[in-house]
Amino acid sequence: MQRHNKQHGDRTITSEVDKVKRQVRKAVFPVAGLGTRFLPATKASPKEMLPIVDKPLIQYAVEEAVEAGVETLVFIIGRTKNAIADHFDKAYELEVELETRGKTELLQIVRNIVPPRVECVYVRQAEALGLGHAVLCARPVVGNEPFAVILADDLIAEDRVEGGALTQMARHFNKYQCSILGVERVPPLETNKYGIVHPLPFATRLSNVDGIVEKPKPENAPSDLAVVGRYILTPRIFELLEKTPRGAGNEIQLTDGIAALLNEEQVLAYEFSGRRYDCGSKIGYLIATIEYGLQHAELGDEFRTYLQSLPQRIGGGFPPGNAE
Ligand code: G1P
Repeated sequence: MQRHNKQHGDRTITSEVDKVKRQVRKAVFPVAGLGTRFLPATKASPKEMLPIVDKPLIQYAVEEAVEAGVETLVFIIGRTKNAIADHFDKAYELEVELETRGKTELLQIVRNIVPPRVECVYVRQAEALGLGHAVLCARPVVGNEPFAVILADDLIAEDRVEGGALTQMARHFNKYQCSILGVERVPPLETNKYGIVHPLPFATRLSNVDGIVEKPKPENAPSDLAVVGRYILTPRIFELLEKTPRGAGNEIQLTDGIAALLNEEQVLAYEFSGRRYDCGSKIGYLIATIEYGLQHAELGDEFRTYLQSLPQRIGGGFPPGNAE
């Protein structure tokens, strides 16, 4: 485990406050996956470093966490360990170069990748034993606090009114003080791609989770509400993950740990507001690239004009593709 040089300040005092009302101040980012779907792009860097227009997926996830009040970012890194640490580390040479060339805007962008009050911690997951195992690797850093887990390949656009998905979830956590899963409805035939909850609805977009299954076949799925890469969990999950045997795909599944947790504690499912892009698939990644490109402050207008001109450019319509 490697700690980077940020200040801890008044940690002792705030942990006393925590006893009264707990807040989510740490977020875990599992980034040790093999990223096989995107090979060869992911041969030397994790899929979370793939950019959407000009920012890597992991940075969108970090910005969402920081907006939600997170102060410690815990990256669970694997084989391609350097890319993420390098991205969030200070880049002295680059900064000097940008300064010398008078590129002040770019300099600010590079300097503000992580705000100064935020600490980055890197934990090595030596073996890819599954998401549950990755989260368990964060235990020495997270300790006995509630924490968030963000899967950066689920990119969630911020809702202009309600804020980012994790901000919305943290708001509910502050009220209910229990684990919360970010969920959305998926097409019934796609339940086998997700953890699916059995919800008992009790308020607008909020349900008690009565059961959860990892990647059920459509005919066995308890609902069409899928967990999509956002979790707030109580630390009890660590003890349960220690005892969780390998499940679907012969991996230690976070979903199975959560299934054990909800036998002991209240767990909520929250239908967040904000469009989600499945950037773990190539088509989801392409869609995100196009839609973020269209909304980009500098490029949006030019890109829109280009897309509108596309049918004419390629001769009155899109040619048939190669796919059968
Ligand atoms: C993981 C989780 C699954 C969750 C999904 C969200 O699956 O195991 O429960 O629904 O992320 O993206 P993966 O996509 O890593 O196979």
